[in-house]
Formats: sequence, C-alpha cells, structure tokens
Amino acid sequence: MKTIVPPLKCQGIKTKLVPWIREVVGDDFNRWIEPFMGSGVAGFNMYPKVALFADSNPHIIAFYKAVQSGEISPQSARAFLKQEGDLLRNASDNGYDHYRLVRDRFNVSRNSLDFLFLSRAGFNGMMRFSKKGHWNIPFCKKPDRFAQAYITKIVNQIDVLAKIIQPEWKFCHQDYLVTIADAQAGDMIYCDPPYLGRYTDYFNNWTEKDEARLANALRATPARFVMSSWHHNDFRINDAIQRYWGNFNILTRDHFYHSGAKEENRRSIVEALICNFDLDGFESHNHGVRRKPEQLRLLEQTAKYIAQQDAGATRASMRSSALTVEIAPTLGLVGLTQG
Ligand SMILES: C[S@@+](CC[C@H](N)C(=O)[O-])C[C@H]1O[C@@H](n2cnc3c(N)ncnc32)[C@H](O)[C@@H]1O
Repeated sequence: MKTIVPPLKCQGIKTKLVPWIREVVGDDFNRWIEPFMGSGVAGFNMYPKVALFADSNPHIIAFYKAVQSGEISPQSARAFLKQEGDLLRNASDNGYDHYRLVRDRFNVSRNSLDFLFLSRAGFNGMMRFSKKGHWNIPFCKKPDRFAQAYITKIVNQIDVLAKIIQPEWKFCHQDYLVTIADAQAGDMIYCDPPYLGRYTDYFNNWTEKDEARLANALRATPARFVMSSWHHNDFRINDAIQRYWGNFNILTRDHFYHSGAKEENRRSIVEALICNFDLDGFESHNHGVRRKPEQLRLLEQTAKYIAQQDAGATRASMRSSALTVEIAPTLGLVGLTQG
C-alpha cells in the first residue's frame, strides 16, 4: 500500500516507518488517538473512521482543521503558492526578502497558508519556533522553490488528504495528558513524543518529567498503545527505554540514513516500537526487513575497504568501521533488545 505523504513537514516525521506501524497496530480498533500528531503521517495512513489527532502546536491543528472544513482546498492552495512563489522568485536577496516577509506576516496573523509556505520553503523541511513562539527556520535559499512541479506535488498532497479526511476526525490543540485521558478500551493510541535530550523549542520542551508522566498515563490507559522511540545508535543506548519502558513489549529495527553526502557519513539508528499488547508472531528485531543477500553485502564491504585504502584512510578507522558493520546487527539482537 502506498504511503500518503502529508503537506506539512517536520523533523522526526515517520513516513518511512508507516508500513511497520501499520502492521503492528492492525485495523481492529474503534478510534485512532494520536497525542503528538506532528505532520499526521502515521494516523492518516491508518485510514481510521474515527480519530482524535492532537498536538501542542496550534498551527498544525489550525492547518488540518482548515483542510477538513474546506477553508483550504487544493485550488486555494495552488493559487496561493503560485502567487507567493512568483513573489519569492523575484524578490531581492535571492528570494530571502520575500521569505522574511511571509515569516513576519505569519508571526502576526498565524495564517495557515503562510504556515504551509514556510513549512515548504524552510531549510530541510524543519519546523521550529523561537522562545517567543515565532517561526524560527531559515530559508532553503531556493528562490525558485515553488516551481510548477513542486506546487503540483503539494496540491496533490492536499487533495489526497481532503479526500480521506473524515468528519469524525477531531483535531485538538491540547497537551498529551488530556488526549490520553480521553482514550477508552478498544481505542488505539499512537505516541511519537519529542525525543528526550534531542532539541527543544517553543512547542517541544520535552523533559524527563514529561517522559515519566507519559509512561504513567500509558500504563494506566484502558486502550492499547504503540509508542515510537529510538533504541540505540552508533554511539549510545537510549537509557530512557530501560527507565520508563522496560516492562512493555518492544520491537526494534535498523534504520540507515546519511548525515551528509559521503558514504562514510552513513549512520544507523535502531528504531523502537513499544506496545502494551502481545506481539506474538513478530520477531523482536528487524521483523519484515529484508536483508541483502550475503554475497552482495560482502562485495559492498570489499568495495568500501578498497575505497578507504585508496583514500589513505588510517588502519584504525578501517578496523572500527568494519567492526561497526559486523557488530551493529549483533548488538541489536543480543546486547540491547528486549521483549
Ligand atoms: C516527533 S514530533 C511527531 C512527529 C509525527 N509522528 C510525524 O511523523 O510527523 C512530536 C510532536 O509532539 C508535539 N508536542 C510536543 N510536546 C507536546 C505536548 N506536551 N503535548 C502534545 N504535543 C506535544 C510537537 O509539537 C510535535 O509536533
């Protein structure tokens, strides 16, 4: 099944994890409850009949309410992005002057279409707000950002969403504790809170206390829940897993990404899904992830080794990277996974 991509972007967006989450939650629930909706990609892809989507960020909630009511339509979004895109293209300072104008306008008016513009013209699809609650992401520095093909892509995302959005979906600007308190037996809660110690902003001030409160609320809920977290990366273990989530069932899977263009900047993180229901039938690590054939893996490792030698990499760094390749999966299975 194709994953629906929402029109808003934010860091930590779970687009790549949607098939895994879908498989774990199944479709046997009365209501979808998402206390930290962010872009909404997880819940939208579950096609719930009834849902409660919530977030502490009022701009996200206002945007999706506007799509639901028809106040924002594919047509109105296209006209707006075309007009603002033209102004951006012709603005001084390589477009930056118009980006600043929209940003300052949004910080006063809180207009949902300005919010969409900033989300799609900001650096790297990030969403962050200053201490005063003002938009705090720099311009992506592409004056031609809203070329016709890109506008069509965004408009199509709004169109798909407008088609699947149900009158029985509630969008609420509220704290996660209020949302979780609403859950009943038969509901499915999906939690994707800000990660402890990662970053904070006006709407993302996540502390150890919040993690503890969240664990208590989820321990007490009569509903089923699935929570996303990270388990470990190349450098450290997420010790909050042990402190707060050790008594629940946990699935893990490898996720590789690039933090830069170079091959040696390939990093891995082990993602986790924490649940309060039985996960019989799921392998605890890398369920459903197809491993590359062994021969191909060896060939790739050999090629990497030769490239490193050619580049004059030191012996020590070659040894440590070979170790990472060989040991990381084993760590995931033996040393760190639970459940
Ligand atoms: C990691 S993001 C969620 C990303 C989302 N799952 C996605 O795929 O797009 C965390 C979200 O939690 C929201 N948030 C932070 N603190 C919150 C709180 N106390 N109550 C409700 N939402 C909160 C943030 O505004 C942010 O949108």
